[in-house]
Amino acid sequence: MNHFKRYTVTAALPYANGPVHIGHLAGCYLPADIYVRYLRARGRDVVFICGSDEHGVPITIKAQKEGITPQQVVDKYHEQMKETFEKIGISFNIFSRTSSKTHHETASAFFLNLYNRGIFEELETDQYFDEKKGQFLADRYITGTCPNCGNTNAYGDQCEKCGSSLNPTDLINPVSALSGEKPVLRKTKNWFLPLDKLQPKIEEFINGHPEWKPNVLGQCKSWLTQKLQPRAMTRDLDWGVKVPLKGAGNKVLYVWFDAPIGYISATKELTPDWEKYWKDKETRLIHFIGKDNIVFHCIIFPAMLMAHGEYILPDNVPANEFLNLEGQKISTSRNWAVWLHEYLNDFPEKQDVMRYTLCANAPETKDNDFTWKDFQSRNNSELVAILGNFVHRTHVLVWKFFEGKVPASVEYTKNDLAALEEIKKIPQRITEAIETFHFRDALTEAMNLARTGNKYLTENEPWKANLNNPKRVQTVLNISLQICANLSVVLKPFMPFTSEKLRTLLNIAESGWDAAGNTQLLNENHQLGKSFMLFERIEDEPIQKQIDKLHNSMSVQMPNKAIPAVKTPVTFNEFGKMDIRIGAILTAERVAGADKLLKLKVDTGIDIRTVVSGIAKYYAPEKIIGQRVCLLVNLEPRKIRGIESHGMILMAENSDGKLIFVTPAEADAENGSSVK
Ligand code: MF3
Ligand code: ZN
Repeated sequence: MNHFKRYTVTAALPYANGPVHIGHLAGCYLPADIYVRYLRARGRDVVFICGSDEHGVPITIKAQKEGITPQQVVDKYHEQMKETFEKIGISFNIFSRTSSKTHHETASAFFLNLYNRGIFEELETDQYFDEKKGQFLADRYITGTCPNCGNTNAYGDQCEKCGSSLNPTDLINPVSALSGEKPVLRKTKNWFLPLDKLQPKIEEFINGHPEWKPNVLGQCKSWLTQKLQPRAMTRDLDWGVKVPLKGAGNKVLYVWFDAPIGYISATKELTPDWEKYWKDKETRLIHFIGKDNIVFHCIIFPAMLMAHGEYILPDNVPANEFLNLEGQKISTSRNWAVWLHEYLNDFPEKQDVMRYTLCANAPETKDNDFTWKDFQSRNNSELVAILGNFVHRTHVLVWKFFEGKVPASVEYTKNDLAALEEIKKIPQRITEAIETFHFRDALTEAMNLARTGNKYLTENEPWKANLNNPKRVQTVLNISLQICANLSVVLKPFMPFTSEKLRTLLNIAESGWDAAGNTQLLNENHQLGKSFMLFERIEDEPIQKQIDKLHNSMSVQMPNKAIPAVKTPVTFNEFGKMDIRIGAILTAERVAGADKLLKLKVDTGIDIRTVVSGIAKYYAPEKIIGQRVCLLVNLEPRKIRGIESHGMILMAENSDGKLIFVTPAEADAENGSSVK
């Protein structure tokens, strides 16, 4: 055990821009809840902190999409998330929100503290600006190609594919998420946290934690080798915590500055005694997160806390990898997800089946896959066939032979002693696994106790022994019941609803973790409760329904985004007749009376010729001078609106019907290069 007096456990504040899905649960809320329930069972002083993250671009983008205000977005999803977490048994001590007054005050005060102590660098920098919308493009308002891994959908603050943290100006081919336009650069003043200067202290902090998970340390080390850069802690946006400085105008705190402070504000709301959970060195601070949050919790937030100086730093940040769904990445925009509120509707009373499946298959060391078939088989062949079966057989036999009263154990055979040994040994293994954040292993060990019981009962056949050896029956059932009682203790962090049902079956009160391993939890003659089943089989039909729903609701989401079908085949010879060349646009002008057409002069490398092209809706003539193109040069000349057009510019048409230039990726494809 360690030297800590108390625990502050946080789970990443989810953005209040949509409901919670199984990926969220598996990524951080479930492991955090298991850990906290375990600590509570050990009698530790612990606060479990969460809330909704209600600022930042994810919220305003959602509001624009739904045509409602950001406030309406966060009000709707805050309530929904809160309810869902409660129903699935995530036992936060508080689920607050970053729009609360306490939070705005706490975040402002934190900012002012750093500001007054001269920590920030005040810098005027070029930031991308959307001229059409008249707005600066921070964070997710801008997308482009990641300079590190080539992902074409990287955000202005982060690439979700390779995990690197970015600045908008790092992106290749930046595009405004608001208008789809190419943004321009404009000067604006912001306050930067000098992560470069803090690097040595951050390095020392991370190097002091060789025990962190390898996936977490790996990401940290790679940022540190790339060298940290100053990072803006304010944004030119109007949704968020206002920058608490006179003359700061329409600026708010960067969402990744205010959100982690939300952990502190929520603790303040929870208890007037909050300071000991944040400022006492004997408190162990642990952040549960998903892997896309690693840099913010291991580097940026600790840097803020260090710069402030009064706070403790996280002692561990056990981040999980991602959970996939039926072989594909979970995607909210494509509606490829299992939404928890829908799950709870479709499978009422089956909270623990989901908790069990997600923990047994948790993406602790690598991305993992959730499938409905696996969910069904975990239920049928593990929960029903092993745990439920063992408990039920034991319970029914005790009622049959002893009117539901715990029989005394009489004398122990080798078999009995071996079972008792397991009862004593297994809890220690569970404890060690939980303490080191190996929740899958911990659950496997807990289920091993049920397996032991199931096997023990089958091998000792008390139902047969009754006729000739009643004492044997007493002993076997006594030991089986002690295993059931132990299961109610060790399963509690993972499956709290089942643990409670077990206690009802056994008619016992809740006991602490210390009870685990005790082979005398139930006294002789103790009266059990009435029998009922802990789990029921799940048939194929409801499972197939879920699989169908997943596929159907995905296609409903993208009705007009059809990719055209493949045309009839052509021969190589036929294709070879096309003479396609690289060229460049020299001049462009509108064609009078035709709002779709531009008249272009194109340098084809062979000649300079006139081409009429139907791209006026997408490109202003003055914007495409110098644009490199591919063109079909041996297309028969045609007269369009009285202008003779010699060739055709090749354009890609995306799923919105927008036309996009097809251009050579490198400059040394000079004009006249043929495309084949
Ligand atoms: N809202 C963020 C996300 O969903 C997580 C914020 S965690 C906090 O990725 F530390 F900022 F609170
Ligand atoms: Zn990347």
